[in-house]
Amino acid sequence: MRQLTSIDEIQAFVQEKRNGGCSIGFVPTMGALHEGHLSLVQESNGKNAITIVSIFVNPTQFNNPEDLKKYPRTIDSDVKLLEEVGCDAVFIPEVATIYSDDFIPKKVDLGLLGETMEGFYRPGHFEGVVTVVQRLFSIVQPDSAFFGRKDFQQVAVIKQMVESLKLDVKIYEVETKREESGLAMSSRNMLLTEEEKIEATIIYRILSMMLVNSKTKNPSEVQQIALESFEKSTLKIEYLEIVHPRTFERLETSWVKGATVCVVAYCGKVRLIDNMEIIPLDK
Ligand code: PAJ
Repeated sequence: MRQLTSIDEIQAFVQEKRNGGCSIGFVPTMGALHEGHLSLVQESNGKNAITIVSIFVNPTQFNNPEDLKKYPRTIDSDVKLLEEVGCDAVFIPEVATIYSDDFIPKKVDLGLLGETMEGFYRPGHFEGVVTVVQRLFSIVQPDSAFFGRKDFQQVAVIKQMVESLKLDVKIYEVETKREESGLAMSSRNMLLTEEEKIEATIIYRILSMMLVNSKTKNPSEVQQIALESFEKSTLKIEYLEIVHPRTFERLETSWVKGATVCVVAYCGKVRLIDNMEIIPLDK
């Protein structure tokens, strides 16, 4: 596996592979890799001759400086895991490489997507994501890119960006990888104590209960029961919404195909995000 840090190096690598007729799959990450990230790499490997992963803790998407400071950095084990899973190249740029003076990001109007849930509670977060992903796409120029459904709203934001900027990149969504306990894998889980890891499993249990309740109750009722269950737990809810899978409008009285519950809860000081499709898209 090649380990590259400059734009010239990564572009030379991509050019060489393209000349050999290879398709390029790309997986952007912030490192502290776990099986969830690796499942994106495997998905890309299955669809492309070459997979490139980037590791870049993007400062502009952290609305909280403390969160940026304590974000886990495990570069040596990341590189090892990527090698094991058959990644072809890892791009690890410096902040100054990504945010060089000649880079002028294009603005994307996110509409409701930028204002609701993550957009509301993490002001500036999606602007940072859009900025860094468009920069990474313009450097790597992949045929396709892979994102986790764990960050459900982020995938929608990326798709919106690709559409508005008319980028020639196919976006794939990959299912959320969970621990056996149901806890969604996340780099932030490293910040949980063993006890908190057990407490955090309540998220998946409540999401699963919501799925069952959706068979007999409307979205507002399902949401209300879930909120009451969270109140009895040690976790602190930031938001819990049932939304339309594309418009992200809140659902209250009736269900739509693909209706998805999105939740953010604090377990101690750690902010955990998860979601679950409540009504199948293909029903
Ligand atoms: P990061 O949190 O490192 O996640 C990188 C990718 O891995 C994202 O697409 C995320 O949705 C996916 N992922 C994380 N946990 C997952 C899980 N349990 N199952 C499946 N996929 C999972 O998301 C970011 O970084 C950044 O915002 C980024 C897109 C790299 C821009 O900086």
